[in-house]
Amino acid sequence: MSNLPVIVDRAGLWDAEALSDVAAATFPLACPADATPDDIQIFVSDVLSSERFGEYLNDPERVVLKARADDEIVGYAMLVLRDPQDPAVAEAVDLHPAVELSKMYVLPGHHGTGVSTALMRTCLRWVRAEGYPGVWLGVNRENLRAQRFYTRHGFEVVGARTFVVGRQLHHDHVMRLIFRP
Ligand SMILES: CC(C)(COP(=O)(O)OP(=O)(O)OC[C@H]1O[C@@H](n2cnc3c(N)ncnc32)[C@H](O)[C@@H]1OP(=O)(O)O)[C@@H](O)C(=O)NCCC(=O)NCCS
Repeated sequence: MSNLPVIVDRAGLWDAEALSDVAAATFPLACPADATPDDIQIFVSDVLSSERFGEYLNDPERVVLKARADDEIVGYAMLVLRDPQDPAVAEAVDLHPAVELSKMYVLPGHHGTGVSTALMRTCLRWVRAEGYPGVWLGVNRENLRAQRFYTRHGFEVVGARTFVVGRQLHHDHVMRLIFRP
């Protein structure tokens, strides 16, 4: 386990490949036990390729933050600055304007070291500074570690959604944090 100092800042286009590598290594950790390797691979190829990260990094509706330790990217987070597409999620989230913490992933060797907390604090600081009333996210119902992490940072469950991974439907909690004045 590493306890190196961590630096969190905005990722740039040049980070697309390294972010894709971290994403491919960490996405399976967020999946339920019955997720198949094939379905995970479909998701990784379709959604987490370096080409897709290039698109995310160019998208004015997304903010990608990277966490570096010893000059390596060891985690990343992605904010999506638009209303939820699913009307039921939009109703449960009830944020105007809405922002989603769409990804929060840290390499396993850096779990429990403060990297995730540094990423989360930077996300929340950014969202608050931009004037959003809060932030929402989806997390798999079986991903108890992530749920505890989010709860510790002030999120609570406000609804549910489904999430497609390959040919499988996954079941998520929808969690929301509202900033106190
Ligand atoms: C989610 C993630 C960012 C959290 O960061 P972290 O550094 O692991 O966070 P912590 O070490 O503070 O652990 C969070 C909590 O889970 C607990 N925990 C640790 N392992 C656990 C496990 N196997 N099951 C349940 N809880 C666990 C910790 O004790 C801690 O509880 P506390 O807040 O009551 O002290 C990180 O684990 C990660 O990247 N996981 C893989 C990807 C992922 O699941 N991303 C989220 C997608 S929605």
